[in-house]
Amino acid sequence: MNPSQLISNLNDKLAQTLALVASAQELQALYDAKVAFAGKQGFLSDIMREMGKLPKEDKPGFGKEVNRAKVAFEEAYVAREEELKNAALMDKVKKDAVDVSLPGPAMAAGAKHPIYLVMDEVVGILSRLGYTVRTGPQIEKDWYNFEALNIPPDHPSRDMQDTFYIDDDHVLRTHTSPIQIHTLLTEKPPFRALAPGSVFRKDSDISHSPNFHQIEGLLVDKHVSMADLKGTIAFVLKELFGSAVKVRFRPSFFPFTEPSAEFDCSCPICSAKGCRLCKQTGWIEIGGSGLVNPRVFEAVKIDPKQWQGFAFGFGIERMAMIKYGIDDIRLFAENDLRFLGQFNL
Ligand code: PHE
Repeated sequence: MNPSQLISNLNDKLAQTLALVASAQELQALYDAKVAFAGKQGFLSDIMREMGKLPKEDKPGFGKEVNRAKVAFEEAYVAREEELKNAALMDKVKKDAVDVSLPGPAMAAGAKHPIYLVMDEVVGILSRLGYTVRTGPQIEKDWYNFEALNIPPDHPSRDMQDTFYIDDDHVLRTHTSPIQIHTLLTEKPPFRALAPGSVFRKDSDISHSPNFHQIEGLLVDKHVSMADLKGTIAFVLKELFGSAVKVRFRPSFFPFTEPSAEFDCSCPICSAKGCRLCKQTGWIEIGGSGLVNPRVFEAVKIDPKQWQGFAFGFGIERMAMIKYGIDDIRLFAENDLRFLGQFNL
């Protein structure tokens, strides 16, 4: 073959290859074109072998042509490779793109436990009367839970049947009243203290749970009467259940109060006509109360001639049952989200 034929072959092949490169839609097609044109056994290698057969004076000119073709191919190849890579990247970006207008996965909103909703509400009501919150340990020394509260050794609440004992001297507190003792020991009267908390007794049926909640109240001042106590409790219950509820006090006995009274509120569910929740009586028992027994003051070295007080304990489960019309106390501790999710009002 003479040089001009070879050059025209070269140009034809280059043109074809450039067309292939320009139209390549995938990187693989581009690599194939490269192998065919510039690979070890490709077109350029073949044509270089042909160059060996040319007369000496034609070689440099032809060599230049081959180089020019090689450079032209390289440039076109690199440019197209870049385009394809960019296009692939754009594709991937598009495919992976997040559509920020789509609704996100729903986040389950937590709800406050109904016991804590009622606790918070009662704390809110009593804080308007000047009460502030105190806390105490759930594992109590015998002295705080019983002894200082004038609960004698033979009192039934001290029985193994009724109380969870940790050891001879420690119990799971059976009521929030030991917080009265902690407060009386650490603070100077007058004060108004409020103590919500979890308490424990060996009790379990449709209206008793071994772990339940109380709110303790303790007011200590110079002149304190049963009338003050009744007014305070009536205020809380009317704020909580509506002004139509009636409050009733029944004489009772607690070793740490004297006189003592239990209090009931008229059933707001049936307007005191009688229903399952109030066991057809029209009344629901809410808690215990009374004037602080002087023997409690003596136990904490406060002079009972100088100071008087009243105390009360609300059962929170009871209040929540009334407020939300729940007739089985065990629901509060079952952790059934279908139940618990209903109170996020
Ligand atoms: N601690 C008593 C109980 O758990 C309730 C109570 C509290 C009574 C305060 C009087 C005064 O039954």
